Amino acid sequence: MYRAELAHPADLDGFRHAVRCALALKIAPVEIDWGLAGVEQGLALASPLPQCPDAPAPKVARRFVELAELVICHSDPLRFRLLHQALLRLQAMPRLLEDRSDRLVDRLEMLAKAVSRDRHKMRAFLRFREVQDAQGAHFIAWFEPDHHILRLNCGFFIRRYASQRWTILTPEASAHWDGSALTILPGAMKTDAPDSDPLEAIWKTYYASTFNPARLKVKAMQAEMPRKYWKNLPEAALIPELIGGAEARMTDMIAPATAEGAGTAETLDALKALAAGCQRCPLHAQATQMVFGEGPADARLMIVGEQPGDQEDLAGRPFVGPAGAMLDRALSEAGIDRARAYVTNSVKHFKFQTRGVRRIHESPNPAEIQACRWWLDQERALLKPGLVLMLGASAGRALLGRAVTVGKERGRPLGLPDGAPAFLTVHPSYLLRIENAATARAEYSRFVEDLRVARALSEGL
Ligand code: URA
Repeated sequence: MYRAELAHPADLDGFRHAVRCALALKIAPVEIDWGLAGVEQGLALASPLPQCPDAPAPKVARRFVELAELVICHSDPLRFRLLHQALLRLQAMPRLLEDRSDRLVDRLEMLAKAVSRDRHKMRAFLRFREVQDAQGAHFIAWFEPDHHILRLNCGFFIRRYASQRWTILTPEASAHWDGSALTILPGAMKTDAPDSDPLEAIWKTYYASTFNPARLKVKAMQAEMPRKYWKNLPEAALIPELIGGAEARMTDMIAPATAEGAGTAETLDALKALAAGCQRCPLHAQATQMVFGEGPADARLMIVGEQPGDQEDLAGRPFVGPAGAMLDRALSEAGIDRARAYVTNSVKHFKFQTRGVRRIHESPNPAEIQACRWWLDQERALLKPGLVLMLGASAGRALLGRAVTVGKERGRPLGLPDGAPAFLTVHPSYLLRIENAATARAEYSRFVEDLRVARALSEGL
């Protein structure tokens, strides 16, 4: 029996070196006990795995490398052995990974999926708290992942908060970014993180104002935001109260009023799956996820906005934030059932600038809009809607292929370059920005009127 030592639980480089040696010396997966350097392992009598610096790299498909990067982060202690087994079998069967009915392949895929989910949860549910020290603002967050995903996520947080100083504490390790260099430090305890900060009030207000009981069912909410994370989310303190008052608020609301970037697909679901890995423009790098369109595949009305906002980016769904609430209200007044429409955006990754740890929306530029047309055009081709309703100038540019002045072209039937019927109106976030109450009311009514016309056009009336 041999003992192989790794520098940390997700040490892919260490694993790579050791496993190359095991393959070269024909040491079977069951003969290796994997563990962490400096941590006592079960088998005291095991000999250290020999070092073979010249062992050749085994030939593997790119998919194996992608799988290994995720699987190595899983908390399953057997992950190293499973990867070693797969490597061994890949030498004789290079296309092994294409066979999902193979038990080993299936197990690796499941492990990778669990790690991907955990990685996403950390991106969505991590909340920084601000502390002031001698060098100014320092943002600190506590997070308890299920798997060893901290290092996997560091690049994401560096891109998102490149100019801030931040530290993410987890029980296994901590990551510290000083604005130019990343240091991985030992794990910490929850008590090492600050308890609360002034940003909590902002999160809470924001969350309460955008909580929409009509769409955000408690069950769905719990699935997306497992209880485990609630304790670290300032806004989660409001959840019981929000759920409790949901019905009353609902009445209130109603009463006043591939190649990583290419690929085609034959269904909207398949297109969405393909688009999830899109890297056609740089926006994918800082966004949490691609926010694809949603709605029935036989929708007559296709509604196109600009791009996901902060809340859409976290939820992975279009128009679920403040602009979405405004849109929903106006749609319902215009007699349009949102559930019967297909709702999407011209650009499917959130573009923003960070201020502190807040993310401020930034409009997409023509190149980003053009890059994302790859998906929008396919959504439209699959859906074949009776009418495309464009909300705002970015949607106008994306679909008409030219700059538009919303004030001049809104409210009347238009044709897309391929002749498809279209209609342009303002974006609901324009309505949210109007400060004068009388103007806001008048503009809102005009918006609802536009939607009524759009509805009639989409129904062919
Ligand atoms: N604004 C948009 O244009 N789309 C969204 O999904 C949300 C806000």
